[in-house]
Amino acid sequence: MTPLVEMENMSISFGGIHAVDNASVDLFPGEVVGLLGHNGAGKSTLIKILSGAYKRDNGEIRIDGKTATIHNPRDAKGYGIETIYQTLALADNVDTAANLYLGRELKTPWGTLDDVAMEAKSREVMGRLNPRFQRFKDPVKQLSGGQRQSVAIARAILFNARILIMDEPTAALGPQETAQVGELIKQLKAEGIGIFLISHDIHDVFDLADRVAVMKNGQMVGTARTEDVTKDEVLGMIILGKCPPGATPGPGAL
Ligand SMILES: Nc1ncnc2c1ncn2[C@@H]1O[C@H](COP(=O)(O)OP(=O)(O)OP(=O)(O)O)[C@@H](O)[C@H]1O
Ligand SMILES: [Mg+2]
Repeated sequence: MTPLVEMENMSISFGGIHAVDNASVDLFPGEVVGLLGHNGAGKSTLIKILSGAYKRDNGEIRIDGKTATIHNPRDAKGYGIETIYQTLALADNVDTAANLYLGRELKTPWGTLDDVAMEAKSREVMGRLNPRFQRFKDPVKQLSGGQRQSVAIARAILFNARILIMDEPTAALGPQETAQVGELIKQLKAEGIGIFLISHDIHDVFDLADRVAVMKNGQMVGTARTEDVTKDEVLGMIILGKCPPGATPGPGAL
């Protein structure tokens, strides 16, 4: 099977600091790859190269096996790459449908907003992700953290995202809502969407990820199938940069 995404030998420096240093990672359809590492390890920077927010100094990105040209977020969206940042970036005072179509509103043939079509499509997408969700008429600021997360995910996949980047999706959520986001992720996987799940907390990703990729000081320590390593071994990768036998070492391994 051809990987959905291949990032090969990515490098980017800010001033003299190698924020990402020769890092490689890939992602298959329907797969969750947990990107782990301490604060400042380079996780967000690596993923911002893929989402078009940062321009890399070096390296190649391939989508479906073909070289991809990603210079800005619009290019990335053209490849079906969507990012959900920790802040979610929702418009708090308007309802779910208005958030899903923010800046991309559907119009009737007469040039007016097509509220009927937008609400119908919103109900369809939200129904797929979170069938119990009923609060379509409420401003999103009144929703729970988990519900807000579903709105942000629905917005990302509404326009046919195939590659979803989630940067610390559960950092601000309680246990019940974290579980709800886990259910959302399983649903997306079943639809064949590939997900990069970024976290500095191993417990958040270990149960959801098919593979983990660990970064340290901008370098890739290694990657491993979650079933081939223990949590303690992955902690060793994060803290010490020590690659266990079940993992494939990267340039940052001890
Ligand atoms: N725009 C920028 N300008 C200068 N330095 C930056 C910039 N973005 C990131 N860095 C630096 O690059 C390094 C990697 O940062 P990055 O945000 O990618 O880490 P992270 O792994 O996402 O950490 P966290 O878990 O805290 O989110 C850090 O040393 C950071 O200070
Ligand atoms: Mg980060």
